[in-house]
Amino acid sequence: MSGMFKEMKFKQPKSFEFTKENLEIAKKIIAKYPKGKQQSAVMPLLDLAQRQNENWIPTAAMDCIANMLEMPFIKVYEVASFYTMYNKQPVGKHLIQVCRTTPCWLRGSDEVTSACKNRLGIDVGETTDDKKFTLVEVECLGACVNAPMVQINDDYYEDLNAESMTKVIDDLSRGIQPKSGSQTGRQASAPTGWVRGAKPAIKAESKTKTKTTAKPKASPKKSGSKKG
Ligand code: FES
Repeated sequence: MSGMFKEMKFKQPKSFEFTKENLEIAKKIIAKYPKGKQQSAVMPLLDLAQRQNENWIPTAAMDCIANMLEMPFIKVYEVASFYTMYNKQPVGKHLIQVCRTTPCWLRGSDEVTSACKNRLGIDVGETTDDKKFTLVEVECLGACVNAPMVQINDDYYEDLNAESMTKVIDDLSRGIQPKSGSQTGRQASAPTGWVRGAKPAIKAESKTKTKTTAKPKASPKKSGSKKG
């Protein structure tokens, strides 16, 4: 079980089977690997199982995958335990992962975490009573350039502060899908304040310089420089 979550009581389902549709997808994934190397499909199959099972992977699903890939159960448990993207216990409909690594922390991840806690009335590692939200803290999610940021299910929300974080939560509570990406309107990861179509200041400056700079005088001919 991941240390990201607080211990909670829940029932492990006794069995797990891929749906007919997902079984076909699983077979296609396995077929991508050379004969004898099917175990390499363990990660995409865990992801598939998690998506089928409301965003968490029961032990029965890991056993099912181990059988499909002809590998020891423990090896599948090890993979699922190592990567934080696999949830080994039930989570809320919206899993909020707040990045707390240095760039996000310097840019206000504490404020973002507090906003989540205040709005949801839960602590880090907990799930709301209505099972709509789970809040966890994670390490760098690779979007430091737009820090601070959170991941909610498959989407990134960036350039957050307490106000915008609260708005994202409120929208999700109302069933509205908030716009992912920068919450300040930043264009991708362009510098703050950059406006699409605006001429870069550096070019304007160099143009002025060209106009005002006097032409250099032609250098005098050197005597005796001609050959022959
Ligand atoms: S430090 Fe937060 S995304 Fe990298």
